[in-house]
Amino acid sequence: MSLLQVQNLSVSYGKASALNNMSMEVNEGEIVAVIGPNGAGKTTLLKAITGLIKVKGGTVLYKDNVITGIPAHNILGRGISHVPQGRQVFGDQSVEDNLILGAFTIKKEKQKIQELIEREYERFPRLKERRKQQAGTLSGGEQQMLAVSRALMSDPDFVILDEPSMGLSPIFVKQIFDTLLELKKSGKTVMVVEQLAMAALAISDRAYVLQVGEVKLHGQSRDLLRDDVLIKTYLGSTSAN
Ligand SMILES: Nc1ncnc2c1ncn2[C@@H]1O[C@H](COP(=O)(O)OP(=O)(O)OP(=O)(O)O)[C@@H](O)[C@H]1O
Ligand SMILES: [Mg+2]
Repeated sequence: MSLLQVQNLSVSYGKASALNNMSMEVNEGEIVAVIGPNGAGKTTLLKAITGLIKVKGGTVLYKDNVITGIPAHNILGRGISHVPQGRQVFGDQSVEDNLILGAFTIKKEKQKIQELIEREYERFPRLKERRKQQAGTLSGGEQQMLAVSRALMSDPDFVILDEPSMGLSPIFVKQIFDTLLELKKSGKTVMVVEQLAMAALAISDRAYVLQVGEVKLHGQSRDLLRDDVLIKTYLGSTSAN
């Protein structure tokens, strides 16, 4: 079943078009990867879905309801969570307070919040060790774990991540990608923008290749993985690692 449908979406910044009449969908229970070169419009797509920017045209449907034009906090309340590009944690707050802030859509059910915190500490024991530490003093990889965990504190059905591997060493990258597979196993749906195209194809079910605001290619990830020449044509050989 289709969970998210993006139909003929266009976004412009002033006169410059960032997304041009693009369409895509995410089915329930899938991991969908969005890959493409810098400036392709990947972040713009995620922001348009989660209500962080205004769209010029087109429609976004979530669970068959139109969500275009709805304020971001209402979209979060519907079970979508967004890990933005560049791990934006609250640097002057502790790790644990960042997690609590991530749960704001589930109001004040203290017991539930505590359970969710424990679940995240199980997922990333490193965060538990550092629960009292100011988030701004965590290493880059630890901040990325916190950004992911904070997004999961709203107990979303659908998790959207923007370049979760950025700036991470291979061991942290693996941990983040393993987390995406665990999320899928636990019944969640995942959409991930990645610059590590091959790694993203390896863990996803389907993928879209964006270039200058348009879908240039899409299909089953395993087929795209074999389509080495095409990937290199659209992504450049340096991104195709
Ligand atoms: N706030 C903004 N104002 C003006 N132009 C913008 C703004 N945000 C993005 N753009 C432009 O829109 C285009 C798409 O940007 P976007 O951030 O969506 O790309 P991206 O695919 O996420 O790239 P990257 O891989 O570098 O993160 C780029 O040309 C960018 O310069
Ligand atoms: Mg981006």
